[in-house]
Amino acid sequence: MQIFTTRKALRDYLNSFENKHLSLGFVPTMGALHSGHVSLLEISKKHCDLSVCSIFVNPGQFNDPEDLRRYPRTPEKDSALLKEHGCDVLFMPDVEEIYPEPATEAYDFGNIDKILEGAHRPGHFNGVAQVLMRFFNIVRPNKAFFGEKDYQQMLIVKALVKQMGSKTEIIPCPIVRESDGLAMSSRNALLSEKERQLAANISLWMKTASDQLKSSEISEVKQSIEKEMAHHPELKLDYFEVCHPENLETFSGQLNGRAAIALIALYTGKIRLIDNIRLNS
Ligand code: PAJ
Repeated sequence: MQIFTTRKALRDYLNSFENKHLSLGFVPTMGALHSGHVSLLEISKKHCDLSVCSIFVNPGQFNDPEDLRRYPRTPEKDSALLKEHGCDVLFMPDVEEIYPEPATEAYDFGNIDKILEGAHRPGHFNGVAQVLMRFFNIVRPNKAFFGEKDYQQMLIVKALVKQMGSKTEIIPCPIVRESDGLAMSSRNALLSEKERQLAANISLWMKTASDQLKSSEISEVKQSIEKEMAHHPELKLDYFEVCHPENLETFSGQLNGRAAIALIALYTGKIRLIDNIRLNS
């Protein structure tokens, strides 16, 4: 595995493959890697001849400075894990390398970046778009791999490449879960033992919700989740919404077999977790 910290060194290396017509896969991450990230690398390796992973904790997408400060950073462990799983190239730039000047681009994705995560984390998706356009311009991948764990992010990245006329194809990848159902996340490492146990309920509630949504009103299902959460003062719901799977328009009433996605965000103590489940698809 080749490791680069500068754009120039990475580009020089990738340029040496340019005439060989190899397909290039890209897996952007913020590190503290787990099997969810590794699954993206494995999918990239199936699709592409050469796979590049990046690790960059992007300050521009943290609306809460405390969240940025405590974001887990484990570069040695991450790099060993990527090497073990056959990553070809690891790009680990520092902040000055990516932002020699402060970023000023303002993106507009219509409604899709203003709701759900966008409403609760102002500026978050603009920061994600700023960093990803920089990375796409440096790496110039044929395909880039994104987890459905961050479902709204995946849709926004699809909209971003379309808007920018980028030739990179965005490949959505399934959510990888712990054995008790909790969606893997770098933030899970920050949970206390008790919070970790509580967090296992999230995927159970989402499964129950997906069954209930076959016959119940969305508002009733939301109420039953709120009722369950009320037993645990450590939990605080940010949102539970059932949406159109492509444009995230919020559904109400009954689903009546419509394809949809249920999305949840909640605090477990101080740690904010998200999850989602597809319905009728
Ligand atoms: P990060 O949270 O590190 O996630 C990197 C990628 O891994 C994202 O595409 C995310 O959806 C995917 N991922 C995380 N947990 C997963 C799981 N349990 N199953 C499947 N995929 C999972 O998302 C970001 O970083 C950043 O916003 C980034 C895109 C790198 C831009 O800074």
